[in-house]
Amino acid sequence: MALQRPKGTQDHLPEGSPKLSLDVKASAFAFVQDTARRVMERAGAEFIATPLFEEAELVRRGVGGSTDIVRKEMFTVYYFGDHGGYVLRPEGTASIVRAYLQNGLRQLPAPLKLWTHGPMFRAENVQKGRLRQFHQVDYEVLGSKDPLIDAESIWLMWEVVRELGLSGVRVKLGSIGDPADRETYNTYLQELLAAHVDRLSDDSKDRLGRNPMRILDSKSAGDQALIAELGVRPMLDFLGEEARAHFGAVQGYLSDWGVPFDLDPSIVRGLDYYRRTAWELHHEGVGAKSALGGGGRYDGLAAQLGGAEVPGIGWAFGIERLLLALEAEGVQLPAPEGPALFLAALDEENVGLAARIALEARSAARVEFAYRALKPGNAFREADRRRARYAAVIGSEEAAGGVLNVKSLATGAQRAVSVSELRTFLLEQA
Ligand code: HAM
Repeated sequence: MALQRPKGTQDHLPEGSPKLSLDVKASAFAFVQDTARRVMERAGAEFIATPLFEEAELVRRGVGGSTDIVRKEMFTVYYFGDHGGYVLRPEGTASIVRAYLQNGLRQLPAPLKLWTHGPMFRAENVQKGRLRQFHQVDYEVLGSKDPLIDAESIWLMWEVVRELGLSGVRVKLGSIGDPADRETYNTYLQELLAAHVDRLSDDSKDRLGRNPMRILDSKSAGDQALIAELGVRPMLDFLGEEARAHFGAVQGYLSDWGVPFDLDPSIVRGLDYYRRTAWELHHEGVGAKSALGGGGRYDGLAAQLGGAEVPGIGWAFGIERLLLALEAEGVQLPAPEGPALFLAALDEENVGLAARIALEARSAARVEFAYRALKPGNAFREADRRRARYAAVIGSEEAAGGVLNVKSLATGAQRAVSVSELRTFLLEQA
């Protein structure tokens, strides 16, 4: 058998590929990215890009040494003579905060809104919607603690979902408080669960010492039954005064703006840098345990990476998961556009001329041409197949007169356009 791609990765394929599902369709990826970009740029976000690999230490300190991501899911990068101190990035936030600190972006007006998209890498157990190389759209705001920013960030995610045309999305909102609140809560959980360790799953036994809150997020039915039976109190009961006021303000804005959300005390998130507001967007088509996207506030992250105290908040969508949700809902994505114009020569001696006219017209629009002479019927069929808006053929008459009969493939209407005015014609159609 020919060589295969690595497990947990996908190829993004062009239109017309056999067995094309939405989550591997390149144009569907582009549609999701473009929609998210539009929403974020309208909010004033600037694009940023960071390397695909980073110092392992950045991820360890940023995402957190006790997380599954750091303990079990890192791809280590080796190259000749190197010590293996680099890893493929599992997420974008730690890198963006590193770039912010390293490049003096603090001098830019605050709050600074940044966005990026690209592949992320986690060596997870592969299943539907859970890949080893997946793609995120990521939005981050640095330099403000204001709950208005939290609400605006969540609103933007909701706006992306709306613009994509998804209807079955739920926002699950929680707060994991300030570090001191979390410490109190973790102690509470440890004390409560210590007497029942033997009933916990191995993963949760492990978490009890290191990160007890993560037990609430356990996928084991036995763990969940125990949590229900013990009537474990939610983190929200343990919020300090400031975190509580902040969370109240976030909810107030969202309610005012008509963003529907469910308070979800089980939101704990799988990364250590969060404090206060944390949320996830869920969709049935992706599975109850898998979020479409999630985010939260991370006011301590910059200092944790050795920089100044810079508050931050952000979110990321998994693009593959958005596509699975779109597929599950049967949302029709706009068909990718074909060329504005398709040109074909009717005889071999005019193929070069048709090509030259097409190449020059490309400064105005997408223009394609036939690489060999075609009969008129075949030329228009080919234009149709490529979803062109207009088509024209070039025979000896057009070559001599310098005028093309440009046909609209939608209406069949024809119009004489001189070669010298072709660019203007195409610009007018845009
Ligand atoms: P996260 O919840 O780890 O957060 O990932 C965000 C989204 O990425 C998930 O909701 C999911 O859609 C997608 N995702 C994660 N892992 C996989 C996977 N193995 N396969 C497919 N999709 C996946 C973060 O990454 C944070 N950096 C978000 C953030 C930004 N928080 C603040 N700023």
